[in-house]
Amino acid sequence: VEKWDITYEQGQDLESLRRAAHELRETDTPVAFPTETVYGLGADATRSSAVCAIFAAKGRPADNPLIVHVHSIPQLRSLLLGGKNTQNGTADPIPDIYKPLIKKFWPGPLTIILPNPEGSVLAPEVTAGLDTFGARMPRSILSLALMRLAGVPLAGPSANASTRPSPTAAEHVKDDLDGRIHTIIDGGPCEVGVESTVVDGLSNPPAVLRPGGVTVEQLRLCPGWENVVVGYKDKHEHDIRPRAPGMKYRHYSPKASVILYEAGAKMPNQNDITNPEKGYKSVGIIRTKSWPTALGLPVESLRSTNGDSDVAASAPKSFAHSLESTTSNLLRSIIQHQVPHASCHSLQSPTAGPISVWDIALGTSTEDVARGLFSALRELDKKGVETIFVEGIDDRTGDDIAAAVMNRLRKAAELRV
Ligand code: TXA
Ligand code: MG
Repeated sequence: VEKWDITYEQGQDLESLRRAAHELRETDTPVAFPTETVYGLGADATRSSAVCAIFAAKGRPADNPLIVHVHSIPQLRSLLLGGKNTQNGTADPIPDIYKPLIKKFWPGPLTIILPNPEGSVLAPEVTAGLDTFGARMPRSILSLALMRLAGVPLAGPSANASTRPSPTAAEHVKDDLDGRIHTIIDGGPCEVGVESTVVDGLSNPPAVLRPGGVTVEQLRLCPGWENVVVGYKDKHEHDIRPRAPGMKYRHYSPKASVILYEAGAKMPNQNDITNPEKGYKSVGIIRTKSWPTALGLPVESLRSTNGDSDVAASAPKSFAHSLESTTSNLLRSIIQHQVPHASCHSLQSPTAGPISVWDIALGTSTEDVARGLFSALRELDKKGVETIFVEGIDDRTGDDIAAAVMNRLRKAAELRV
């Protein structure tokens, strides 16, 4: 998969990964790669020129540190030892507090904050002046293969333009970064759909700095993490200085304005949309667990207005990962996985004429909502809607990744909740 000219040739996947790995080693242009959470924009974390090119391509503020992706525990150890060899009975440099987490959640959607050693091999831009670095081992087989072939740790933020929703399909990366990078490795739509959970186990008590693909409940079950605290805030963020620098920035924003309805709030109705004071011409509705249909419009009328397939059937489905698959098989199976699509209905405003209502149903499980969320925001931007009404989900129980979903939605909606 290269240079936007996306072709899949049997047996060529490895060759494509080799070329991408070569590009990572020999040039400064970042390479976009799939992970189970969102697509990352990778560069050799040990070379300043390559790391700076990530910030330039994304338009990312320089004080927001990057996550370092590793493919193995020895590779992580060597980063903690400043690149020195790990043999000869040296004490394990991985802090004990993280061992149960690594065992349970890696490879997977968890980023841990580690001390950056004296004489670190990491480019200083990666850590943005902090004395720690974030590390994660993703579980996408393509990302692991790429890192192994490249042989260097990959600094990798999400591969969106800064402030945009994170990319959960290769197409999203192309939409944001076309002309700024040369290569995207297309692994199909991402399995989790929200970014990794960032945790700080160096503080006492340990803290979650960003909610993500691993839940607080899951963390609490690990020894040493029973009293983990929530170290981020969804609302009134500007009042505090967040411990993950990235949490202070405007984020996840589609071009349209987002109005978030907290779980249980009354859904908008047709009069809210046709109200002449609002002057809506085109709106989007993202439904999750409870809103039965967009604005109470019958599903039949939603379907009849365009040729799209059944709204419910377009909700994303999980796909299986198999470490035994060849990359070719894996690619083929993943590409069949659907991203959510919008269907259109037209409402008549008393004064302003027809209003287009674009409706997306993400599905009723939290996993489906997480997987389809960023994609839905981007899809509605493409339809040119001015305002997006989103049905929130209940994030009070902590036993699923609803906290991550609502954190992203509250940011996308800024104050319109
Ligand atoms: O799932 C993910 O984590 C994706 C995929 C590509 O791995 N990556 C990702 O990276 O979301 P990014 O750069 O969009 O978000 C990284 C977050 C930011 O909020 C950043 O401030 C925080 O991690 N972070 C990184 N290093 C840190 C450190 N040393 N201390 C505190 N926070 C840190
Ligand atoms: Mg990001």
